[in-house]
Amino acid sequence: MADLASQWPQGLASTWAEGAARGPAAVVTGIGAYVPPRLVTNDDLAQRLDTSDEWIRTRTGIATRHIVDEGMATIDLGTEAGRIALKSAGESQVDAVVLATTIPDRPCPASAPEIASRLGLSGVAAFDVGAVCTGFIYALAVSAGLIGIGIAERILCISAEAFSNLVNPDDRTTAVIFGDGAGAVVLRAGDRDEPGALGSFDLGSDGDRSDLIAVAAGGSRQPLASTHKTEDLYLAMDGREVYRHAIPRMAESSKVVLERAGWDVADVDRFVGHQANVRILDAVASRLGIPPDRRVANIERVGNTAAASIPIALADAAADGTLQAGHRVLLTAFGGGLTWGSTVLTWPVLTIG
Ligand code: ACO
Repeated sequence: MADLASQWPQGLASTWAEGAARGPAAVVTGIGAYVPPRLVTNDDLAQRLDTSDEWIRTRTGIATRHIVDEGMATIDLGTEAGRIALKSAGESQVDAVVLATTIPDRPCPASAPEIASRLGLSGVAAFDVGAVCTGFIYALAVSAGLIGIGIAERILCISAEAFSNLVNPDDRTTAVIFGDGAGAVVLRAGDRDEPGALGSFDLGSDGDRSDLIAVAAGGSRQPLASTHKTEDLYLAMDGREVYRHAIPRMAESSKVVLERAGWDVADVDRFVGHQANVRILDAVASRLGIPPDRRVANIERVGNTAAASIPIALADAAADGTLQAGHRVLLTAFGGGLTWGSTVLTWPVLTIG
């Protein structure tokens, strides 16, 4: 496989939220995750699609995923995860709600204000961030920026995706991969050297390849009202090409953020990457020289939940003890846009709800 990194144009180098580094740090004080009750197994999918449990497991590492029932949407998932995260943090009030999502309940308005209202947080700043599967890292960076420049002291940062509503249920190349769910963290202003403080960030994008993961209709380029082709309503993904980009991008972004943080690869106790495909996670860990037992994966249980995948993986790992206070954690993601991003933190003592 050609190393794409050597072909990247100059000037696409990642950006870094340097400004926030001068103010207070954003410190994780609570975490929560929620997946809808309905469990769909690979065998369930194989009953109506030309696929098999064996193909899905070996190509993706996925065994099951949770899918919303009709009537349940992104706001419902995000509200539940947010509620659990607030309880974990022991907070009833924040200054802002930041939501990363690929599929808000409607194109307009944003979904974050309604989540805030449902959580009894009416009146606070609330907005959505769109960076597809990198959404959680972008939302953390935006939140760290708001805290760093003193606009907010406490933020509820949520990633929620009723992603199955973007997926053509008859398309085996995407229907087997994605699942629904939400994850959230509470952040508060604190010191840069305390456990839970988000460290350096690396963020980047390459819009030249926006075609690799895209939904054609529903925006201003192709409004729904003028859409006649069903396939334009659904996510189209060039999986093979995305795979080729994902590994070097996540590895490179991880290296950048580790260098900015002053960490060696050997310092990383837990590597939590976007749960796109277990083979991608293994390949990124291997490129970085991170031993397999430090790589966190819950994709087998929940599939690829897009922006929600990292906070759900963190919550699962914290709940089952894989992730413990004092662990040095590397987070990295890659997704549609194309977008990518990474950050680091030392895992704090948290109440797991
Ligand atoms: N069941 C059985 N066969 C299948 C299925 C399926 N569900 N899907 C595809 N196939 C077939 C293909 O048609 C192809 O057949 P052919 O060889 O006769 O042409 C064969 O399996 C191999 O297909 P590939 O696409 O080469 O399979 P690959 O090993 O690349 O796995 C996958 C596909 C899982 C999609 C992988 O490419 C991948 O994980 N890509 C990255 C996805 C990702 O990271 N997305 C980014 C984040 S998501 C976001 O941002 C929204």
